Amino acid sequence: MKAAVLHEVGGVPRYEDFPDPVPAEGEVLIEVIAAAVENVDKAIAAGKHFAAGQYVSQLPMIPVFDGIGRLPDGTVVGFGNPRSPYGALAEKTVVPAGSYVPMADGIEPAVATVLASAITGMSMKLAGGLVAGETVLVQGATGVAGRLAVQVARLLGAGRIVATGRDDEQLGELAADAVINTAVSDDELIQAFKDAKGEGYDVVLDFLWGRPTELLLRSLTPDSFAFAKPTRLIQTGEVAGADLVVPAAALRTSGVEIYGAARGLTPETMGEAYNQVLEWTRSGDLTFDLDRVPLSDIESAWQRTSTHGRRTVVLP
Ligand SMILES: NC(=O)c1ccc[n+]([C@@H]2O[C@H](COP(=O)([O-])OP(=O)(O)OC[C@H]3O[C@@H](n4cnc5c(N)ncnc54)[C@H](OP(=O)(O)O)[C@@H]3O)[C@@H](O)[C@H]2O)c1
Repeated sequence: MKAAVLHEVGGVPRYEDFPDPVPAEGEVLIEVIAAAVENVDKAIAAGKHFAAGQYVSQLPMIPVFDGIGRLPDGTVVGFGNPRSPYGALAEKTVVPAGSYVPMADGIEPAVATVLASAITGMSMKLAGGLVAGETVLVQGATGVAGRLAVQVARLLGAGRIVATGRDDEQLGELAADAVINTAVSDDELIQAFKDAKGEGYDVVLDFLWGRPTELLLRSLTPDSFAFAKPTRLIQTGEVAGADLVVPAAALRTSGVEIYGAARGLTPETMGEAYNQVLEWTRSGDLTFDLDRVPLSDIESAWQRTSTHGRRTVVLP
């Protein structure tokens, strides 16, 4: 079969022939229809993700751990967890029996690959307890997941939405109530966070981490004794840095609470979140852009850096 084959950790997958997967007992062969290339897949292939050992246990390997495909009986499914070295960037892959769910009717496979990024936005409710009328800050809103999160915040009834990014043109495309460009001096960014917060940020969905979030925490640290309003910060991504310094004072009296995006996720809540974003997508309330590329173009697709909010979806 044809596949995108990774020969070295941190390398670029190449379009090559690869032996067909042969399902073992308890496994199922999947004919791949569509697979999105996301930052998490690149981080895994670069050995920089905590789950890298699970998927890059041997080389050569085929990246991407989920996608849309067809079972041997013809059922179209969303699948995950392929057996290493097989992945979704190939004509075929192999997954444990049951590691798939039938794809919903009336949704195109390429579009379905993007819905997982929309579910991330639902963590504002699941992990952050967002209720209607609250103020949301989407920290890093110009990427695919960030743009979806701004829309999801609105659909969940957020009262005020503030969005950050580092490109004024892209920030101008967002349906937020206020935007902040993080590419300014530290003092200017701290002031911008203070100026835009209205009655205070209730929920922060953070795709950036690193410097911008360190400065956000500094902006939320009070300069006098007062009763703090809680700010629930949901850690979701790290495109601006894997680490940050959290001074004790940034937590002691600020009201800041930090959670991971996986908080509140169970098979049940995940299913409900999926159904919700599916409904919004079908109704046209939730929209996003994607670029469909053939598997043979994987080398250039993999190396795209600025995606301008468009998801790259590979069609083997
Ligand atoms: N936990 C989850 O469930 C989950 C789900 C989806 C995504 N994520 C994570 O969320 C992050 C974003 O994912 P994505 O799929 O939306 O990525 P994406 O579409 O590739 O977008 C990345 C965005 O980050 C911006 N960016 C990069 N470095 C930045 C910096 N230093 N300061 C400000 N903005 C910066 C880029 O801006 P430019 O356009 O200006 O370059 C771009 O808009 C990734 O870390 C990803 O792994 C997590």
